[in-house]
Amino acid sequence: MADFETKEITTDVLILGGGMAASGAAVEAAYWAKKNGLQVALVDKAAMDRSGAVAMGLSAINQYVGLKDGQNTVKDYVDYVKNDLMGIARDDLVASIARHVDSTVHLFEKWGLPIWKDEEGAYVHEGRWQLMINGESYKVIVAEAAKNAVGTDNIYERVFITEPLVADGRCVGAVGFSVRENIFYVFKAKAVLAAMGGAVHVFKPRSAGEGLGRAWYPPWNSGSSAYFTLKAGAEMTCQEVRFIPVRFKDAYGPVGAWFLLFKSRATNAQGEAYMETRRDELEKWKPYGLVKPIPANLRNWLMMLDVMEGKGPIYMRTEEAIQNIAKSEGDEKAAKKKLKELEAEAWEDFLDMTISQAILWAATNTAPEEKPSEIAAAEPYFIGSHSGASGAWVSGPADIAPEEYQWGYTNMSTVKGLFCAGDASGASSHKFSSGSHAEGRIAAKAACRFALDNADIPEVDAGKIEEMKKTILAPLDKFAQNSKDSSDPDINPAYMKPKMFMFRLQKIMDEYAGGVTAQFSTSKAQLEKGLELLTFLKEDAEHLAAEDLHELMRCWENVHRMWQAEAHVRTILAREETRWPGYYFRSDTPQMKEDWEVFVNCVWHPDSGEWEMKKVPIKRLFE
Ligand code: FAD
Ligand code: ADX
Repeated sequence: MADFETKEITTDVLILGGGMAASGAAVEAAYWAKKNGLQVALVDKAAMDRSGAVAMGLSAINQYVGLKDGQNTVKDYVDYVKNDLMGIARDDLVASIARHVDSTVHLFEKWGLPIWKDEEGAYVHEGRWQLMINGESYKVIVAEAAKNAVGTDNIYERVFITEPLVADGRCVGAVGFSVRENIFYVFKAKAVLAAMGGAVHVFKPRSAGEGLGRAWYPPWNSGSSAYFTLKAGAEMTCQEVRFIPVRFKDAYGPVGAWFLLFKSRATNAQGEAYMETRRDELEKWKPYGLVKPIPANLRNWLMMLDVMEGKGPIYMRTEEAIQNIAKSEGDEKAAKKKLKELEAEAWEDFLDMTISQAILWAATNTAPEEKPSEIAAAEPYFIGSHSGASGAWVSGPADIAPEEYQWGYTNMSTVKGLFCAGDASGASSHKFSSGSHAEGRIAAKAACRFALDNADIPEVDAGKIEEMKKTILAPLDKFAQNSKDSSDPDINPAYMKPKMFMFRLQKIMDEYAGGVTAQFSTSKAQLEKGLELLTFLKEDAEHLAAEDLHELMRCWENVHRMWQAEAHVRTILAREETRWPGYYFRSDTPQMKEDWEVFVNCVWHPDSGEWEMKKVPIKRLFE
């Protein structure tokens, strides 16, 4: 620890993360900062050009409302989100993003993102809300605009944010360390915006051995948003609402383009389409079972029922879909030309956002126009911006939010001065890349206002910061002091390496909290046992050891995951029903119950270390 320099940076608005929400926040904060003489700083654990979920690029913009052209209304989008989440959504937050998201998409286009256009110059839609893009460089384009706005001198890349700084109940900064140099960073700010994404590898992944690490959700988002907000004392919401995407098996290629653009079917090994043969099951989950489109978790559920009856493998019928579209062209020549076009689009869909799926197709001699591909339900992830909903409970916009959902500044958590956006803010699903960027802009504008209204920052005790530095760097000391005592530095009675720690966490979650091995099923008894084992894991976190800076990051990533895991288990336990059977099934409470159409929120109280669970009524904007 002695050779670690401490660098202190004081700014007005501190943006944590460099992904879609943070990039939106950067552009907006820079605008208001310039007008008002404020400073803005941004910290990313990676390099912004390729950080976060959009690193590999994307093949579609999943949220575009088309308000100007009268394609849809804000209410249409709110209805879609509420229905998809089986009633559990904050209308005010969803509406607030929906009314601003189109302008974000227009900015992307202005910055150089190629959006597909038809012969009349209109955007090509994948589905009702989704636009097709040539998105390999999506993140580079969005990050460039953010970097230009804030200025590279104010951007700290490859700095891992570890803990919040809180004084007098107000969030006044963050601490972290460089993953390249021996520098401990202390950031102090008037307003802090957390946008460090969701979490992966909390549950044991399907990938093992040579495929270990491959997941749908990007491996570098490890629950830092949830940890940061929880540790600051913020109220959290929807911590039970994990997302399980159905994906092309093993390389996790997206299915949206296949289902929506190519109108493909998925069938079991006998050629039966579970969305047809299992339709009666949807009655059990009404009213949401009977809405259009059928909620994502119920689409999963119908497939899972086939799998549990041994009717797998499940196939995406790519060959059938491609041939059907080609044939509908009329004459043979046109059909051949169309076939070539569709083949190219199918490959591009993966090459734009999930390159490994294209590699797997090549490696397994898969020609999508000839042969179907297996699909499967992935392990659970925490991604409040997609079809999950976990995140912090934030204040709604003053003009539309019900009284109970607003406390001053839009997107501020229940901790003064701490704002959240993207995966970091909860109960506002389906914002995706574009909506996360728009929400980042909304939150940053409010954060600037907060910084102007609350110019005096309470002092953080210097001794407390020194104590934090000691704790954060402790895994390096642990390794240095003990590694020579065993012949293999990975196995040592005095410590545990982060990878082993992660394996233990994943096993607990997989077996007790409804992971792949448990066929996404759990119960009160299982969850209580899991919680007991998580308590032991928490105790053992003190014995984490790191050989270098990279492993130090791995240590803290796993501590962050562990807190996300605990919030998840406690919230599933609190909700005594099954509401999203295709995300998790509570075998002891197997039905959806009317009196559970509420939010389940939780708070970890920093002073007592106690968790508090709350049932919060849902207030609708639209009936
Ligand atoms: P991210 O964009 O993931 O950014 C998180 C940021 O936090 C990163 O910069 C990361 O480096 C940083 N970070 C994490 N931990 C720390 C830490 N401790 N310290 C400092 N920095 C940290 N949306 C679409 O619109 N269309 C699609 O086709 C689409 N496909 C998707 C495919 C996949 C595989 C995934 C995972 C998501 C997809 N999405 C899509 C959704 C979209 O990517 C997300 O909604 C969006 O990226 C969320 O934005 P965010 O800023 O919350 O998180
Ligand atoms: S992505 O985020 O990795 O691109 P995916 O390809 O599954 O996700 O879906 C893209 C978009 O299509 C999302 O908005 C998703 O909700 C929607 N979608 C996917 N499959 C279906 C389906 N069968 N019915 C309706 N919407 C779907």
